[in-house]
Amino acid sequence: MRATHKVTLVNAVALQGRSIVIKRSIISIAIGLSLAGASCFAQQNPPSRGREITKLYTEYCAGCHGADMTGGSGPSLVDGAWRHGGDDSSIAASIRTGYPHEGMPALGNDFDAPEIRALVIYIRERAASFKAAHMTYNAPIPGATVHSEKASFKLEPVIESDLETPWAIAFLPDGRMLVTEQAGRLRIIDHGKLLPDPVRGIPAVYGGEGGLLDVVLHPNYSRPGNDWIYLSYGDKSPGGLAMTAVIRGRLRDGAFVDQQPIFKAPESSYRVGGQRFGSRLLFDREGHLFFSVGDRACPGDEQDLSQPNGKVHRVNDDGGIPQDNPFAHRAGAVPSIWTYGNRNPQGLTFSPITGALWESEHGPRGGDELNILLAGHNYGWPLITYGMNYDGTPITNHLAHAGMDQPITYWVPSIAASPITFYTGNRFPQWKNNLFLGALAAQELLRLEIAGNKVVHQEILFKGIGRVRDIVNGPDGYLYVVLNAPDRIERIVPVDVD
Ligand code: HEC
Repeated sequence: MRATHKVTLVNAVALQGRSIVIKRSIISIAIGLSLAGASCFAQQNPPSRGREITKLYTEYCAGCHGADMTGGSGPSLVDGAWRHGGDDSSIAASIRTGYPHEGMPALGNDFDAPEIRALVIYIRERAASFKAAHMTYNAPIPGATVHSEKASFKLEPVIESDLETPWAIAFLPDGRMLVTEQAGRLRIIDHGKLLPDPVRGIPAVYGGEGGLLDVVLHPNYSRPGNDWIYLSYGDKSPGGLAMTAVIRGRLRDGAFVDQQPIFKAPESSYRVGGQRFGSRLLFDREGHLFFSVGDRACPGDEQDLSQPNGKVHRVNDDGGIPQDNPFAHRAGAVPSIWTYGNRNPQGLTFSPITGALWESEHGPRGGDELNILLAGHNYGWPLITYGMNYDGTPITNHLAHAGMDQPITYWVPSIAASPITFYTGNRFPQWKNNLFLGALAAQELLRLEIAGNKVVHQEILFKGIGRVRDIVNGPDGYLYVVLNAPDRIERIVPVDVD
């Protein structure tokens, strides 16, 4: 099956450039990949469709544009000034057709389209590093006031020691807080104190990125009989493979009891390795539980409705399948699937204004996405993407395709988009209904202003003080953020400045 898959892709490369054929070849990639999916037990990137990008740049471009892209006989490609247009397609056109009279050769014959796309991503990456090196961002230490565009704030420590890679938090109605540690522990914070003993009876977790992940409460937790706590985690099969699973149970005397599986894939769907479990949990008002399952670095599964990975799912609060799920009655499909073609969705949140389900997707190298998820829709990974492989080889130049949804916005280079939350509290009226997004690699907390289904403005509130793992609206109206390296929980409080 691997062989079929490769041949198909080679054909697709050879045929691109002719629009009718491109469509057909994309479909054949889909078929090739979904065949491969069932037997996918190797961790890998989507197949490369070209050469490694750093080498290409050094060989073909550095002589004129400089090894660091700051210019030579050719202009700087990182200073933000463009003679011929700075959008992706203008840059690609400059590379393809050149400006022979001005000393820029036409290079369209030296590269295929996916390689030109990868060159654009590479230029964007270098431009962003150049910009970051010449800019200062807020890196608040607790207590210090940060002046941002619309509000002054400071970080107030909630727990700053004795936590190990916290992943998510949830507030209990009695004022306590639950926090998951990725290594597989559920801890309790009781009125500002982290209890030394973790909750007993938590399921064993796989490890890697697939430890103990998200935690949420049943939306009617306070009603008698409803005091369920939901956990997602990387579950290990007897054969040593892993897949995201969801369980619920009750907290009684420091133990997780009455456990019931909410989602557990068949063992045949478990995948090798510790990458990309997704795993955000979110209840809607009707009591449906949405949860994301990353693609487990198994390209092809995302487009295959018989596999659970690379999907966002929807189940009832007891794990049952809502009859109006888009694939509930499709033979062979995993009936809990809500959307597919999702790479590693680590953020889910509802818009308090429109009620739409927003998702953030940790992309490849370039191509982190913010999506609005609609029942049954295909978000395209890995057939369309704005990114390339981590190793600098191209994936595709197909950014869009009929029948596959475009992101609301995307980030090239990647920031490692992770949690998202609309701010619904009253402590920062200026931020009300803004979308907050946490980034892992970029170590940023972003504030996004949304109008309808569009991102109209972005601000980096702070950067460089740790990976932002979770963002939660506290019952006290403050935003709580979970940070890794150093591991801690902080809350964001307003500071009045006259
Ligand atoms: C022989 C020298 C030379 C080489 C090789 C070369 N360039 Fe250029 N490039 C130039 C010059 C000179 C210009 C400015 C053309 C102009 O002013 O119209 C330019 C312009 C550009 C532009 C447009 C810049 C703008 O301001 O709009 C881009 C993008 C670009 N080059 C990318 C590349 C990439 C990527 C490569 C390698 C794949 C490359 N170039 C290789 C000399 C070169």
